[in-house]
Amino acid sequence: MKWLVVVVAVGILVADVYCADDTIPWCYHNASCNDLTWPVIATEFCNGTRQSPINIVTTDVAMNDSLTDFAFTNFNNPNILTDMTNTGKTVKVNFASGVQISGGGLPEAYDSLQFHLHWGNGSTVPGSEHTVNGVQFPMEFHIVSIKSSFNGNTTLAVNDSIGAAALGFLIEVLPNTTDEPASWKTLTDYLENITLAGQTVNLTAGLSLDDLLPGVDRTQYYRYLGSLTTPNCFEAVVWTVFKDTVKISSNLIDKFSTMLHIGNETSSEIMVNVFRRVQPAQPVTTRSSGSDDDDDSSDATRTCLSLGLLVLSLVLGWSY
Ligand SMILES: *[C@@H]1O[C@H](CO)[C@@H](O)[C@H](O)[C@H]1NC(C)=O
Ligand SMILES: *[C@@H]1O[C@H](CO)[C@@H](O)[C@H](O)[C@H]1NC(C)=O
Ligand SMILES: *[C@@H]1O[C@H](CO)[C@@H](O)[C@H](O)[C@H]1NC(C)=O
Ligand SMILES: *[C@@H]1O[C@H](CO)[C@@H](O)[C@H](O)[C@H]1NC(C)=O
Ligand SMILES: *[C@@H]1O[C@H](CO)[C@@H](O)[C@H](O)[C@H]1NC(C)=O
Ligand SMILES: *[C@@H]1O[C@H](CO)[C@@H](O)[C@H](O)[C@H]1NC(C)=O
Ligand SMILES: *[C@@H]1O[C@H](CO)[C@@H](O)[C@H](O)[C@H]1NC(C)=O
Ligand SMILES: *[C@@H]1O[C@H](CO)[C@@H](O)[C@H](O)[C@H]1NC(C)=O
Ligand SMILES: *[C@@H]1O[C@H](CO)[C@@H](O)[C@H](O)[C@H]1NC(C)=O
Ligand SMILES: *[C@@H]1O[C@H](CO)[C@@H](O)[C@H](O)[C@H]1NC(C)=O
Ligand SMILES: [Zn+2]
Repeated sequence: MKWLVVVVAVGILVADVYCADDTIPWCYHNASCNDLTWPVIATEFCNGTRQSPINIVTTDVAMNDSLTDFAFTNFNNPNILTDMTNTGKTVKVNFASGVQISGGGLPEAYDSLQFHLHWGNGSTVPGSEHTVNGVQFPMEFHIVSIKSSFNGNTTLAVNDSIGAAALGFLIEVLPNTTDEPASWKTLTDYLENITLAGQTVNLTAGLSLDDLLPGVDRTQYYRYLGSLTTPNCFEAVVWTVFKDTVKISSNLIDKFSTMLHIGNETSSEIMVNVFRRVQPAQPVTTRSSGSDDDDDSSDATRTCLSLGLLVLSLVLGWSY
C-alpha cells in the first residue's frame, strides 16, 4: 500500500497550490459573505432553480418503486478513512479509493470521495441542512460521491446534472448518554488535533463508514435532484436523504461547535452554524417499502492515477 501513501501526499501538495487560487470568499458567519449573499457573490450557480438543501414535506413526497436498495462497497472496510481536515468551513474526512455506492435508483456506480458535517451551535441549536416538515436536526452527515465513469474528474461531474450523488444522514441526540456510540467518540477525539483551519490529522485504521452509521436503516430514503450546498452550488447532485437518523451523545455533538476555529489562529472565531438555509422546494420521491439487503462486496482495483485524481478532487473545494 506504499503507492497509496505517496499519491495521497502528492494530491495534498497540489491542493495547497490550488487553494491559494480559491477566489470566492464565501462564509457562514458574516453577513457580508454568508449564504444569503451567495447568489450574488457566486452567481453561477447559487442563483439557480434546483438548489439544495430543501425542506422535505413528507405529505408531498411521491412514490417511485424504482428507488431500490443501495449497495455500499467498502463501507465495512476499517482502512478507508485516511485523514481529517479542518477546512475552516467544516470537518472533512477523505477516503482511500475503492469506496463506492450503487443501486438506489442511480444510473451507475459512484465513487465515494469524502464525508463532512454540518452543525449548529451545540446539541440544542440545530444545524442540519435538510429539514423534514420544517424540523431542523442538530447535525447532518454528507457522503459525497461522483460517477465512477468520470474517474475522479470533478470538472466532468459538476457539469453533469446527476454527476454527483450525495448521501445525507440527519443526526440527532441519543438521550441520556455520554460518548456514544464508541465510533463517534473515536472520530471526535481527533478534533483536538485540527482545532485550526488548514490542519489535517491522519486517521488510524480501525474505523469504518458502517461503524459511523450504527443501526441506521439505509433502505428508506428521500430522493430529489439538487445542488452542492456550498459555492459554486453546482446543480449536479442526486440527493438521498435517509429517513432514519444517526444518534449520538450530546457531548459529542457539542465538541464540533466548541473546539474548532474558522481561521488558523486561536483568536479566530469558533466554527458554529455551518449550514446553508433551505432553498425553494423540489419534487421529492421515495419508495413505498424496502428490504434490508446490504451488499458489502469488495472491489478495490484502481490505478495510482485515478487515486491521485480522486484525492485532488477532494480538495478542489467543492461540497465542503
Ligand atoms: C500522514 O499521512 C501521509 C500520507 O499517508 C504522510 O505522508 C504524512 O507523513 C502523515 N503525517 C503524519 C503527521 O503522520
Ligand atoms: C464581517 O466582514 C466585514 C467585511 O469584511 C468586516 O468588516 C467585519 O468586521 C466582519 N464582521 C465579523 C463579525 O466578522
Ligand atoms: C444566474 O447568474 C448567471 C450569471 O450571471 C445568469 O446567466 C443566469 O441567468 C442566472 N440564473 C438565474 C436563474 O437567475
Ligand atoms: C423513479 O426513479 C428512477 C430511478 O432513479 C428514475 O429514473 C425515474 O425518473 C423516477 N421517476 C420519477 C417519476 O421520479
Ligand atoms: C454559541 O453558543 C455559545 C454557548 O451557548 C454562545 O456563547 C455563543 O455566543 C453562540 N454563538 C453563536 C454564533 O450564536
Ligand atoms: C477533466 O475533464 C476535463 C474535460 O474533459 C479536462 O479538460 C480536464 O483536464 C480533466 N481534469 C483532469 C484533472 O484530468
Ligand atoms: C458540459 O456539458 C455540456 C453539455 O452537456 C457539454 O457541451 C460541454 O462540453 C461540457 N463541458 C465539459 C467541460 O465537459
Ligand atoms: C433522559 O433524557 C430526557 C430528555 O433529555 C429526560 O427528560 C429524562 O429525564 C432522562 N431520563 C433519565 C432516566 O435520565
Ligand atoms: C492529537 O493530539 C493529542 C493531544 O495534543 C496528541 O496526544 C495526539 O498524539 C495527537 N494525535 C495525532 C494523531 O496527531
Ligand atoms: C494563516 O492564514 C493566513 C490568512 O488566511 C495566511 O496568510 C497564513 O499564511 C496562514 N498561516 C499559516 C501558518 O497557515
Ligand atoms: Zn455538505
